Amino acid sequence: MNILVTGGAGFIGANFVYYILDNYSDDNVICVDALTYAGNMETLSRAMEDKRFTFEKADISDREAIYKIFGRHDIDVVVNFAAESHVDRSIENPELFLRSNILGTQVLMDACLKFNVPRYHQVSTDEVYGDLPLDRPDLFFTEETPIHTSSPYSASKASADLLVQAYHRTYGLPVTISRCSNNYGPYHFPEKMIPLMITRALADESLPVYGTGENVRDWLYVEDHCSAIDLIIRKGRIGEVYNIGGHNERANIDVVKIILRELGKPESLITYVTDRKGHDLRYAIDPTKIHSELGWLPATKFEDGIKKTIKWYLDNRSWWENIISGEYADYYKRMYENRGEAKKQ
Ligand code: NAD
Ligand code: DAU
Repeated sequence: MNILVTGGAGFIGANFVYYILDNYSDDNVICVDALTYAGNMETLSRAMEDKRFTFEKADISDREAIYKIFGRHDIDVVVNFAAESHVDRSIENPELFLRSNILGTQVLMDACLKFNVPRYHQVSTDEVYGDLPLDRPDLFFTEETPIHTSSPYSASKASADLLVQAYHRTYGLPVTISRCSNNYGPYHFPEKMIPLMITRALADESLPVYGTGENVRDWLYVEDHCSAIDLIIRKGRIGEVYNIGGHNERANIDVVKIILRELGKPESLITYVTDRKGHDLRYAIDPTKIHSELGWLPATKFEDGIKKTIKWYLDNRSWWENIISGEYADYYKRMYENRGEAKKQ
């Protein structure tokens, strides 16, 4: 297969590129990425040495550039990871999210129709379902849970999902959608909670926990997300939505404490700061459909995955030190300097 992967220089996209190159010797990967602040060619350095891998720098909302790329390659499937992905940035500047996440999705699907690409997969998120209350551990997101978004980011992802379903019904585009819970693992950009806490703890800097730290996320090791998408593009039913998650719910504060324990750092580094606006309380995926239809199960338990992840950040210091020494420092100052300190541990 020739798989066109968008957003392959980012966290999950890059892990997916390696998942395909390492598991399928007959597959070729064409990676399209605009190389925004979140895209990193260093992440793709091993892929760049593989003759089955081609990199194309382009913005998915640039119709002309995308059509040229689709004209140059014989594509069997498009897997769209490219997106602005950080909730806090979407609260600061929603417009970019609408352009990349909604219009970009539309351009890619138009290109699929124009060049007769037989399969389009949209990488979506559990955030399109909104949140669940903290005091109802019996509730989970299923594929039937109504769309109910909280942030400009989740609204842009939900809009894209609706557009994907419209292109399937109206134009007959053969699509699938996956909605995954929070990922963690190698190459995770250090603006996100887990790598932010690891890298700051290593530098003995304060760890900014939003609100009370009781918000719950359902963590999935990134390779398990990749294996699920791989199954969906090969065996998933056209027109279907598949939820992806491994029943690994943790309160943020517990995750932060695990990281500190693993690194041998004191809990006094924890600093409670002003909460995220509109902060979703709890995410929790019911993965019954992908398990029963496609046989998918996650391979990595949180206890093992977090250790592997911490080890990766210890072994790959130059990867994240290069990031945090650049414009990231301005980002951190902008986002965190006015949050104040809600309560010290
Ligand atoms: P990321 O921010 O690490 O990477 C995004 C990549 O997309 C970057 O390489 C960036 O350069 C590229 N990109 C952004 N806008 C682009 C554009 N207009 N044109 C071309 N390339 C562009 O994101 P991630 O965490 O790897 O997330 C990937 C996808 O998975 C996103 O669609 C996100 O909504 C979804 N998702 C993420 C998670 C998670 O926990 N991180 C969970 C579920 C779903
Ligand atoms: O659920 C899937 C989503 O997971 C994806 O769609 C998003 O692209 C991805 O970024 C992620 O969104 P979250 O907002 O859940 O992830 P984030 O790492 O930003 O935050 C995780 C939790 O940690 C959340 O409750 C907010 C909290 N947090 C985050 C940061 C950055 C803190 O307490 N302190 C922080 O500094």
